[in-house]
Amino acid sequence: MDVEQLLQRMTLRQKLAQMTQLHPYLFDESKVDELTGPNSDLKLSEDDLYLCGSLLNTFWAETRLNLQQKHMERDPNAIPMLFMQDVIHGHRTIYPIPLGMAATFNPQLLQDCAEMAAKEAAASGIDVCFSPMADLCRDARWGRIAESFGEDPYLNEQMTAATVKGYQAENRTAACVKHYAAYGAAEAGRDYNTVDMSLRTLHEYYLKGYEAAVKAGAKMVMSSFNTLNGIPAAGNRYLMNDVLRNKNSFNGCVVTDYNAVREMIAHGFAENEKECAYHAISCNNDMEMMSSTYLRFGEELVKEGRLSVAQIDECVRRILTLKQELGLFESPNRHTDAKLADELFYCKEHLDICQAAAEESCVLLKNNGILPLQKGGKTIAVVGPFAKSKALIGTWAMAADESQTHTLLDGLQKTSPADRFTFAEGCTMQLGEEDVSGVPLALSAAEQADLIIVALGEAQWDSGEGASRTKLRLSPAQKTLLTQLKKTGKPIVGVIFAGRPLVLTDVIDDFDALLYAWHPGTMGGDAIARLLYGEVCPSGVCPVSFARDEGQFPLYYNHYTTGRPCHGDNDPNAYSSRYKDCSNTPLFPFGYGLSYTQFAVEGFTLSSETMQKGGSITATARVKNVGTVAGKAALQWYVRDRFGSCVRPVLELKGFEKIALAPGEEKSVSFTLTEETLAFYHDDLSLFAEAGDFDLYCGLSSVDTISLPFRLV
Ligand code: BGC
Repeated sequence: MDVEQLLQRMTLRQKLAQMTQLHPYLFDESKVDELTGPNSDLKLSEDDLYLCGSLLNTFWAETRLNLQQKHMERDPNAIPMLFMQDVIHGHRTIYPIPLGMAATFNPQLLQDCAEMAAKEAAASGIDVCFSPMADLCRDARWGRIAESFGEDPYLNEQMTAATVKGYQAENRTAACVKHYAAYGAAEAGRDYNTVDMSLRTLHEYYLKGYEAAVKAGAKMVMSSFNTLNGIPAAGNRYLMNDVLRNKNSFNGCVVTDYNAVREMIAHGFAENEKECAYHAISCNNDMEMMSSTYLRFGEELVKEGRLSVAQIDECVRRILTLKQELGLFESPNRHTDAKLADELFYCKEHLDICQAAAEESCVLLKNNGILPLQKGGKTIAVVGPFAKSKALIGTWAMAADESQTHTLLDGLQKTSPADRFTFAEGCTMQLGEEDVSGVPLALSAAEQADLIIVALGEAQWDSGEGASRTKLRLSPAQKTLLTQLKKTGKPIVGVIFAGRPLVLTDVIDDFDALLYAWHPGTMGGDAIARLLYGEVCPSGVCPVSFARDEGQFPLYYNHYTTGRPCHGDNDPNAYSSRYKDCSNTPLFPFGYGLSYTQFAVEGFTLSSETMQKGGSITATARVKNVGTVAGKAALQWYVRDRFGSCVRPVLELKGFEKIALAPGEEKSVSFTLTEETLAFYHDDLSLFAEAGDFDLYCGLSSVDTISLPFRLV
């Protein structure tokens, strides 16, 4: 298919229809009158619907085949529709939420998961996955932190790139990185809220994840809902044109977020839908999602000379090129195959990879030695609203079959059949329900047991889009259950399921051991049971700082020192930068996670203490498993630039490696630093490294490091 020739044949209206993305519910023939009649706020005719260029969230092969056929029968140019879906952490077989995947510190594992998801998605008729979400997040009040890779720009870069590679392997699906840009910095953690930050901070921290996805070849970008420095992202010429298209040379398609074009009116930026279309097209948003302003006002804007045909053609050219690259012109339904999809969903291979991912995502936050559990001979009370729940798959698992979830109780019984498990729910899971009528039953189970495993946390519906919270503690009902259990004096192993790092300050002392399981997906229960019984050693580490108190947000390890750094909680200087009622430090720091074995980092050396401009130096260290069981260490490399013409963070992650070691085994690891590693954005947005003194840190968390100085000359 020659895209240029096709463009020449198309009318302006047909082009604008290509730029329109709709939801399949509009095609429900029983609702056509309602949706296309005078009351529909989209104001589209049935013919318009079947002309449009793409659909979102069709889920299944049959839906695609049906709608594609109807479309092809009516489109005079026979341009196949493109189908996109929120495939975020799996399509039907679900792996841990992205924040959990970030805790693996294992990009290859994430890439494998994304490839698995793409196989299921492609067979289900999906061409584009609406992920990775590259929104850096320093504030766990924001519900969508669950979809993020946490607070660190480097980890975010590695994880977004890995996701893109997985989705796009063998051209199965295209990745759509979102939400451009800085949506994760919503003020006060409130979803859809204002984002205001210096351009230096934007470039230095927030844009890096999207840029890494684009560099990894992401074929699409989604613009975000939020304003950035006073201008809605989709209408922000600096962001969309100067940075994305010019600086980053992104030539792929941009789609807006759901109805974000029309939300420019609510923002107080555009007076009416025609103005919305004008701004969005001027900012090269090639497709508008779930609004019809392009189709209804595009022709008028061209007639008035405010938009040119050339501008519209640019957008349509990118859309047609994407369709061509995906092979839609040769085969309008490409990989769609309902039978294959059914074979892939929950197949052994996919379950295995989800289990491996869940095992690596869990973070052991505390262990007084009670874990790993010995098998057999014990009565264990498994209590709490998550103990037998299948709702462990997390936010955004729209096509999942929750009944396929392996629960914690299932996993425990399977892993250690010689133990006796008694179950009691104890209380309700969801915020606001707060039913504690099950507590007495839970207490009697606990009293008769040798040990309690209590499964608590945050319901998957209390996390994700639209689920911002100001109180990040366990719900009152769950707190009551835990307090009562503690009174039994029985040892308590906690498992917490959540989409965000909850504030655990007032409960941490109640646990003898605590495993943080995020929302672990289909195989969560089996994975956790294997971890608790030591069939596999915990190796996840915190991809975010766990706050002691909500008042600490935004909280992140790579902060600046301030002119009055606080030197620990006992610093006598009342006028240092600190709180009167809370430590500055997190409860659990970035990069932290316990294991059942111990690792020693030894022999840390640098190839030179001096790096020449344009040169490099290599650091080496040996990591040794000095414990008695096999495990994986997440070795982390951080840099501190002691002085800069713009102040530099106290630490910055620059590299990491997940290393598997048998007991007694030792591996030598190396890390090469280049001048580029040391570069940072300056006040005028120039990017370069400044000569001077640095420290390189090597360790097993952001607070457990050894360091060596070096100089860039
Ligand atoms: C979300 C996007 C998502 C889109 C389509 C929006 O509300 O912000 O992340 O891709 O809906 O479902």
